[in-house]
Amino acid sequence: MQYGFFDDDSREYVITRPDTPYPWINYLGSDDFFGLFSNTSGGYCFYRDARMLRLTRYRYNNVPTDAGGRYFYLRDSASGDVWTPSWSPMKSKLDRYECRHGMGYSRISSAKNGLAFSQVSFVPLRDTCEIHKITLTNESGAEKNIDMFSFIEFCLWNAQDDMTNFQRNFSIGEVEIEGSRIYHKTEYRERRNHYAVWAVNVPTAGFDTDRETFLGLYNGFDHPDVVFAGESKNSVASGWAPIGSHHIKAKLAAGESKSFVFVLGYCENPEDKKWQSAKGANYFASANSGVINKAPADALLEKYGTPEAADKALSALNEYWKNLLSKFTVDAEDKRMARMAGVWNQYQCMVTFNMSRSASYFESGIGRGMGFRDSNQDLLGFVHLVPERARARILDIAATQFPDGSAYHQYQPLTKRGNNEIGSGFNDDPLWLICGVSSYIKETGDYSILDEKVPFDNNDALADTLFAHLKKSFYYPVLNAGPHGLPLIGRADWNDCLNLNCFSKTPGESFQTTANFESGVAESVLIAAIFAFVGPDFVEICKRTNRVDEAEKAAKEIEKMIKAVDAHGWDGEWFLRAYDAHGKKIGSKECEDGKIYIESNGFSVMAGIGLEDGRAEKALDSVKEHLDTPYGIVLLQPAYKDYHIELGEVSSYPPGYKENAGIFCHNNPWVTIAETRLGRGSRAFETYAKICPAYREDDSDLRRMEPYVYAQMVAGKDAIRHGEAKNSWLTGTAAWTFVSISQYILGVRPVFDGLLIDPCIPSNMKGFTVTRHFRGADYHITVDNSAGAEKGVKSITVDGNTLEGTILPVFGDGKVHKVVVEMHNEKKHS
Ligand code: BGC
Ligand code: NOJ
Repeated sequence: MQYGFFDDDSREYVITRPDTPYPWINYLGSDDFFGLFSNTSGGYCFYRDARMLRLTRYRYNNVPTDAGGRYFYLRDSASGDVWTPSWSPMKSKLDRYECRHGMGYSRISSAKNGLAFSQVSFVPLRDTCEIHKITLTNESGAEKNIDMFSFIEFCLWNAQDDMTNFQRNFSIGEVEIEGSRIYHKTEYRERRNHYAVWAVNVPTAGFDTDRETFLGLYNGFDHPDVVFAGESKNSVASGWAPIGSHHIKAKLAAGESKSFVFVLGYCENPEDKKWQSAKGANYFASANSGVINKAPADALLEKYGTPEAADKALSALNEYWKNLLSKFTVDAEDKRMARMAGVWNQYQCMVTFNMSRSASYFESGIGRGMGFRDSNQDLLGFVHLVPERARARILDIAATQFPDGSAYHQYQPLTKRGNNEIGSGFNDDPLWLICGVSSYIKETGDYSILDEKVPFDNNDALADTLFAHLKKSFYYPVLNAGPHGLPLIGRADWNDCLNLNCFSKTPGESFQTTANFESGVAESVLIAAIFAFVGPDFVEICKRTNRVDEAEKAAKEIEKMIKAVDAHGWDGEWFLRAYDAHGKKIGSKECEDGKIYIESNGFSVMAGIGLEDGRAEKALDSVKEHLDTPYGIVLLQPAYKDYHIELGEVSSYPPGYKENAGIFCHNNPWVTIAETRLGRGSRAFETYAKICPAYREDDSDLRRMEPYVYAQMVAGKDAIRHGEAKNSWLTGTAAWTFVSISQYILGVRPVFDGLLIDPCIPSNMKGFTVTRHFRGADYHITVDNSAGAEKGVKSITVDGNTLEGTILPVFGDGKVHKVVVEMHNEKKHS
């Protein structure tokens, strides 16, 4: 069944009941301050780094789920009735409920006891705070006296330490209270120069900052003593768990509305301006404990001191998104495709830009930083939206590359330095840099990025041009090839769980970091295919920057690699996946389990391998035959039933989950793109739609995850819950599906020379319209497929003139250009 619907005009997903099959969340924030926000006001926020600078506490894997958020409790003082208008945490029976997740904001509206409640939550552009504008409306015929209590729980900044180091943490919590402003200043007295402020723009009747006092030691968030008593206790936290709660008394005449602006902000002071008054001898006599310099908080709160100011900030945010999403829009009869490709898919790509794989309801925000591989691929999904930021991101990523071309697998967003804890040696990593950079150049035409001086290993002394980095990337798999001439896999390739050199026997040992015993023979067909796919872009880049010899040399390496795949990477009906550390085949009919894998098949065909001799078609037919399901294509078959020490983590998962035969959505669009290379538009669209969440909206009880975002994984056919999704939001699926639908199915693809028009669609799709901002001009493209073709461009006119070929020129004139494309069936006509 459905738990909501898409409101396309307002670009919102409207959730119509609070008990969704999993918390359905949204992301707030576009610059440095971010919040995760569920449909019942759960979640948390942080400044720049979800691990190091977390403002509010969130309990992952808690019972009940989704514990912690920005909560507002209401109490009707006449009846003593208490409820939470966002449903959680009291699970209040509401007369009305709706949550609208929009672009960078969420709005919860509900009603109970004749009182309407509305909460709009967002992070304003450029400022480091969340705003929660609350409006109470008396819908009853008589006056109402309402007690409203706000509640947030502060995290002691380092989210990892906050969850583990209680012997220290229970003694360090500190706050300051000044009128309606509650300051959280734990550790400010020593090395921190930042604090949080939780404020409301009206006078309060009281406050609480000590969790036990507010809730009662043995109560949950669903039964705060203070709220039920109708009176704050003005508690001042000292150690234990600092919280922020305001008590507001609102008198509302019949029909009257009142709005309140709550701001939760992050403030920083320069080292020499930390204090307003110094610490005295008796620290805990409040006047002596040191008064923090509140100037930055004053400035922030001054800005958002009225409901009008909050509304204005929200309008600015709406404008920002409107403008961003105007860069690529789609209109088609199939509304599910149009809204996903035109809005939600791109929105998710921006979230992956901001979060990489750090903070979601499945990524705790303390584990993973920015991935070298992940961030390069994410770029494919947002480079058209924020090209300047993509450029800066490329330079950050490249600076964590080692001089030999390999890379730290991850880096930390705050320091931008490679993260040693996660290690390196994933031999696919280097190639993704070429993929990221070439997509940036195709989008912008900006070759100057290649001349930027970029450190290796974050060391300025080792800096060289970005081009030099690309060259190292290109030659890494060439110089690290195995006995079949295929690239050595190292710790793993794109499939983090194919740990062929690891041989781990110790329970609980991390496959990502444990010792890797490189045998020197474990090779990856996937890396070869990635090389064959991105390598030609490197050659083009060389040619276009007058490096003719370099280009020739590189082209020969690509030919050689393809020959190696031809000779040692083909299994008869499909492409092999790898050779293990004993030289045995993986992903072959000779194997008992794991006979066929998706990745090497999708990528080899994407790279054009086997197009001429029928192998490409055969490979994709085999994928369909062995790996396809109603919910997408599983990663491999048959699933590994037992743990294989020579394979590693892939065989550690129960059959049907994650890399062991789950539908690992990230690689499905590779097959989609591969299908377009064969011109099979109907099949390409089928693979696209199967993993696209909007098509499963009415199947939410099984799918469970949000219908407006892609999930990393959907349980495969071997799993008990086949079709159930997990790990929504932070996944390379977002970028790759956007590439597959926008560039290969709808076929509007940036290439070095311009915008290529090459649609490959189902024959029953009668046409569509795309508007595309590209290198300083707008292209309004209408594709007419009354011919019922799957692939093939018959004619293109630009502003009424017939175009030779299929590449729209770069106009760069700030004007709108009208493009009309007529399709015909390539196969029939050529
Ligand atoms: C997961 C992978 C993930 C890796 C790195 C593995 O357990 O299965 O999908 O990329 O961990 O965190
Ligand atoms: C998730 C990781 O973020 C991504 O980099 C990897 O390719 C997949 N897992 C597959 O293992």
